[in-house]
Amino acid sequence: MVHGVAPVITVDGPGGSGKGTITQMLARKLGWHLLDSGALYRLTALAAGRQGVSLADEEGLVKVAAGLDVAFEPTPEGEPVKVILAGRDVTAEIRTESAGDNASKVAVMQSVRDALLQRQRDFRQAPGLVADGRDMGTVVFPDAPVKIFLTASAEERAQRRYGQLKDAGVNVSIDALLEEIRVRDERDMNRSAAPLKPADDAQVIDSTGLSIEEVLGRCMAAAGQA
Ligand code: C5P
Repeated sequence: MVHGVAPVITVDGPGGSGKGTITQMLARKLGWHLLDSGALYRLTALAAGRQGVSLADEEGLVKVAAGLDVAFEPTPEGEPVKVILAGRDVTAEIRTESAGDNASKVAVMQSVRDALLQRQRDFRQAPGLVADGRDMGTVVFPDAPVKIFLTASAEERAQRRYGQLKDAGVNVSIDALLEEIRVRDERDMNRSAAPLKPADDAQVIDSTGLSIEEVLGRCMAAAGQA
């Protein structure tokens, strides 16, 4: 660990691997700050839409990313962090499948990633940070003392997402979800800018077939906090 710098636990992996839930649980258990970096890409795409900037307009997207007026507000245990964009609560709006898909389209652009880099690093404050994303351990916090790469089979991730959407009253086909997951994985893993992959010094945890408590236990052990 770099002396005088707050410690970071990075949690990277594909969507639906349980990262979001685990990151929140870890942050709460440790009393550390939380960074949901995916939300920044989702917000960039959403704000672009609102400002009439096309998802193909790289220069325009960089300006949107650099000027994001966003606040993350803590919520009671078990509830997602409240996300406020320019004074409006967009917590639900940024979680849709299309918001995720649009996020992964803006995320392929290196200049957009650069525009969001310092904002992400600013979350590193005492007593520590748990950072959720795709490139937390590889690019944003390469000196993090603990790096976790959480994965699960595409089928299991589709099944979990199906359950969440069903609970929320949204009707979708599991085959369509599986296809979306495969397309997004493909785009995230094969892009040239910060592709999704475990850092060389990451501990890979496969959550397929594990309960969330079991995954949390493995992550706490990986973090040396078991
Ligand atoms: O994690 P989440 O599903 O919210 O991320 C949405 C999209 O944002 C991902 O599919 C990925 O393309 C992009 N992303 C990224 N780097 C991060 C976090 C998310 O490229 N650190």
